[in-house]
Amino acid sequence: MTDLTTLEAELTAQVAVAPDAASLEGLRVAALGKSGSISALLKSLGSMSPDERREQGPAINGLRDRIAAAIAERKAALETAELDQRLATERLDLTLPAPPRRKGSVHPTMQVMDEMVAIFAEMGFAVAEGPDIEDDFHNFTALNFPPKHPAREMHDTFFFNPGPDGERKLLRTHTSPVQVRTMRRGNTAPPAPWIAAGQEPPIRIVVPGRTYRCDSDATHTPMFHQMEGLVIDRNIHMGHLKWTLDTFVSRFFEAEGVVTRFRPHHFPFTEPSAEMDVQCDRSGGEIKIGTGTDWLEVVGCGMVHPNVLRNCGLDPDEWQGFAFGFGVDRLGMLKYGMPDLREMFAFDTRWLAHYGFSAFSVPNPASGLS
Ligand code: PHE
Repeated sequence: MTDLTTLEAELTAQVAVAPDAASLEGLRVAALGKSGSISALLKSLGSMSPDERREQGPAINGLRDRIAAAIAERKAALETAELDQRLATERLDLTLPAPPRRKGSVHPTMQVMDEMVAIFAEMGFAVAEGPDIEDDFHNFTALNFPPKHPAREMHDTFFFNPGPDGERKLLRTHTSPVQVRTMRRGNTAPPAPWIAAGQEPPIRIVVPGRTYRCDSDATHTPMFHQMEGLVIDRNIHMGHLKWTLDTFVSRFFEAEGVVTRFRPHHFPFTEPSAEMDVQCDRSGGEIKIGTGTDWLEVVGCGMVHPNVLRNCGLDPDEWQGFAFGFGVDRLGMLKYGMPDLREMFAFDTRWLAHYGFSAFSVPNPASGLS
């Protein structure tokens, strides 16, 4: 009996201070394993007399159960301690600021296009698109460019080598070819689904897109963006054109009643043609729209030439319309104070980080455009 008491006291004490799972397992094997001390006692029961066994059996079995329980209890305690320690040391401090991440931004030209489309959409215009690689017919001929017009020269326009049919394609010099694609009777199967198909008048479209010319200085780049506008309906006159452009510039520059003036100009595809200037103030080194005594040209425009209507299969005695073409990048420079057009396409991410817009600030005439 005394032996059992001593053994139990010893084992209990060792289990209680076992420092880790491995030493606890060592103690378990030494006591309860195949050749462990308690297993040996259990085995010895077989060679006892029945009386002895009746007395020793419950004592030894009780010892085994209590030691097994003590080991299990210690094991649980060690696991809890280990978990507590991991929780203490491996904790993530979610209150720390996240490391800085480079964010993408929306290019000012794209933002300005979205702003323009938002304004024109509210006036009932739809968006139409056309290909950057155009043919001579859509870019020039249908738009009433005479055969010897300088825009048809190599030094003004990027031409491709002649194709198998001898035709030289070109990079469109303006978005006006989309006028032709949209007005043309019978243009029911455009070469791609996103390219404008012919529509029945009345037509009200704006055409955002890239355009190309052999030009490069602080205010000209070989690739730039335009937004064309076209309205075709019955009894359309210059008054509609003036109202549309006046309303647009006031909304775009977010200044009430911006004063505009129309100067006579020439485009082969409009008659009469004009350039519209907005009143601005250039003193103080930056351009302020809506005040001052200076003028700034922002858009070319005019009444669609009867020849263009005829080339598209529309009867000029029945249908009239107006068209306009904005330089999108130029409008962006004016609105957001960017000094050099070339920087807009220089792929400088520092410039973009400075002038770019958040993808979440979607322009909306109701809640603000910029
Ligand atoms: N296509 C002209 C240009 O590129 C702009 C314009 C468009 C003028 C529509 C009048 C009407 O200069």
